[in-house]
Amino acid sequence: MKIVKKHEFGKVRGWEFGWSPVGRPLMTVICYRVGTALIDTALSRMRPVVLRMVEDEGIKTVLLTHCHEDHSGNAAAIKAAFGIPVYGGKLTAEKLARPFRIFPYQRLIWGAADPLEVNILPDVWEESGFRFVPIDTPGHSKGHISYLVPEEGWLFPGDLYLSSRIKYFRADENIRQQIDSLRKALTLDFDALFCAHHPKPVNGKEFIRKNCSISRIYTGKRRSWRQRGWTPERS
Ligand SMILES: [Fe+2]
Repeated sequence: MKIVKKHEFGKVRGWEFGWSPVGRPLMTVICYRVGTALIDTALSRMRPVVLRMVEDEGIKTVLLTHCHEDHSGNAAAIKAAFGIPVYGGKLTAEKLARPFRIFPYQRLIWGAADPLEVNILPDVWEESGFRFVPIDTPGHSKGHISYLVPEEGWLFPGDLYLSSRIKYFRADENIRQQIDSLRKALTLDFDALFCAHHPKPVNGKEFIRKNCSISRIYTGKRRSWRQRGWTPERS
């Protein structure tokens, strides 16, 4: 089953994509169009629809939050098809420079991300009259970046904020770093939290505050699972 939905948030448009071999997808992902910039590129399973969207929206730049295949899955294809530059953090660029191993279930549900050359972000990216300030927010993945648009009060946190409940995690996640990054986000000036799975167009900070305390509890649970010999999946 394929899912394609458009979400309008004033000057921001969210494109939600999901795919599943059977039944409704467990997770979908939202890419955001702001002016001619696209934040993240969705899963490669949805490539033809994503490429059409990029063309129809007149996208000129891709900004990546992190390397996970549901965010970077079409970056190489977009670059190859339209010559659009792709920007990201240094560690994301290093990771995407060559093929990397993912688990069979990840390949099945999202598909792999093809390698590509990612341009390293400057301190500020300006496009279509918007200023995107990349903020280092590691934890969910190494080199994870969130984008602050200060003049508009928007934060695009990628997977820094997943939901009010933590649904999954990977071995490249560092929960302590994640909590630090969530706390860092609370020091930023924004209201709208345009995250990749459950956008909160108003009162975004309240959701991050809640997530901080849940993450703290979860860290303890994870430790106890480890003590019982349960090991999380690697990615
Ligand atoms: Fe992710």
